[in-house]
Amino acid sequence: MTKEAIERADEQLLAELGYKQEFKRAFTPLEVFGIAFSIIGLLPSIASVLLYSLPNGGPSAMVWGWAVASFFILCIGMSMAELASAAPTSGGLYFWTHSLSSPRCRNLLSWIVGYANTIGSIASVASIDWGCAVQVAAAINIGNQSFVATQAQTFGIYVAIIFSHAAICSLGTNVLARLQNLYIVLNFCLCFIVIIGLPAATPKEYMNSASFALGNFSNVNGWPSGYAFILSLLSPLWTICSFDSSVHISEEASNAATAVPWAIVSAIGIAGILGWAINVALAFCMGTDLTSLIDSPQPMAQIFLNSFGQTRTLVVWSFVVLGQYMMGSSMVLAASRQSFAFARDGALPFSSILYRMNRFTGTPVNTVWFVAAIATLLGLLSLAGAQAINAVFALSVTGLYVAYSIPIAARFIFTNNFKPGPFNLGIFSLPVAVIAVSFMTFMDVVFFFPTTPETNTPNMNYTVVVLGGVLVLSLVWYYFPVYGGVHWFTGPVSNVGKVDAAEGVSRDSASVDIKVGAVVVEKDVEAL
Ligand SMILES: *[C@@H]1O[C@H](CO)[C@@H](O)[C@H](O)[C@H]1NC(C)=O
Repeated sequence: MTKEAIERADEQLLAELGYKQEFKRAFTPLEVFGIAFSIIGLLPSIASVLLYSLPNGGPSAMVWGWAVASFFILCIGMSMAELASAAPTSGGLYFWTHSLSSPRCRNLLSWIVGYANTIGSIASVASIDWGCAVQVAAAINIGNQSFVATQAQTFGIYVAIIFSHAAICSLGTNVLARLQNLYIVLNFCLCFIVIIGLPAATPKEYMNSASFALGNFSNVNGWPSGYAFILSLLSPLWTICSFDSSVHISEEASNAATAVPWAIVSAIGIAGILGWAINVALAFCMGTDLTSLIDSPQPMAQIFLNSFGQTRTLVVWSFVVLGQYMMGSSMVLAASRQSFAFARDGALPFSSILYRMNRFTGTPVNTVWFVAAIATLLGLLSLAGAQAINAVFALSVTGLYVAYSIPIAARFIFTNNFKPGPFNLGIFSLPVAVIAVSFMTFMDVVFFFPTTPETNTPNMNYTVVVLGGVLVLSLVWYYFPVYGGVHWFTGPVSNVGKVDAAEGVSRDSASVDIKVGAVVVEKDVEAL
């Protein structure tokens, strides 16, 4: 197919789903993969969450926890990829929920999914950028061992990072799309530095035996071993998450019905295998003194320091920070697109302000800054106690899992006319979906409990407070007398034929537009 033919097919599929083309289709299939893969951001991510697997099982949790989790995550990804192939739209999860659920509850369910997805994506932004701030602080610590950042200093670095990301994501999509290629290369280089370079550089006293690296189970926090192992899964689950990001740029991707599902599945597959290799390399090269690693400002930075020495660690570590930084900018991009789609349907507070396409940059600048502002607020949790920021990491997984489970389940629970796209699993669809949804439900329940057995306020788990709070408030708003969503929210609103968002046209005209949509689309195409 020629480029024009692919473009026309993409636009036609989107029009069938009820939306007109508002974004440029600037992302090639490789770049769609790049978005998912760079948000997974393998090595920098593993660096950020190593402190969740180290105390909850040590080497066994790192190596076998990763393998177990990868299998389940792949099931989730494949179920999602099927939906993405059938209906590639930037509303994704929440659009699917509406079209697959029974008319009696579809509005409420897509409302819940939209909110869970929004808060989960913003929590991903917050946790990635928090991880980045900790890494920046660790970089200073590597250069000058007497410096250990306070929570307040780390928060300052965090805010600076978020704001710079918002500035970058306000730029045009072309710049962001081209950057993806650089992200992929950097990510792969970092992986191989650890898988090959680390074992070569590690001095004998830090090299571990196979029986330690593959068999030692060190459980420091005091939970029963089985439960500790399950908690350690937060590391892989957080690392290989947010792969719905590829879905949110569906309307900016060429050949979306094939490119998006394959981007999801291959990003998960590659991340699962390479991430496992990284964990194995770390387990062999981290020495046996796990307590000193857990107590260090950044466990992976400490492992590098022991193996590479100061100078080489500084070089490698600055690339880790850069990778994490790029991951944050991709995540702000994805979260802003998700909020944009949700605001397009009027569901977010102040939707009419948020749903604006900046005419100059061609990007939704207002939702970018909305995401940055909420993420900054979530970061304030870091000041509530040493453990409180953990909730933001768990929140990004639990929020997204609520949003992922509902459409995957809805497809099989309700009567609907689901038409598989080019990517589908055939007879394996149902079993894979059952595994995926059961696993996500189970993990959501697990992460609502505190991460250490002695619960006092600093160690309490804020995940349930924040996610529960957001979901309850969204329900209150849904059922609010007169103004609540129940009185007007009808799920994804078709905008075919609507005038550009930049022109600031009110949503009231949407119902009229749908009827005349077909005609106006033709006019739009001619105008191009
Ligand atoms: C694991 O390693 C730690 C630290 O070397 C040691 O204290 C512990 O006994 C080991 N546990 C097992 C089950 O091998």
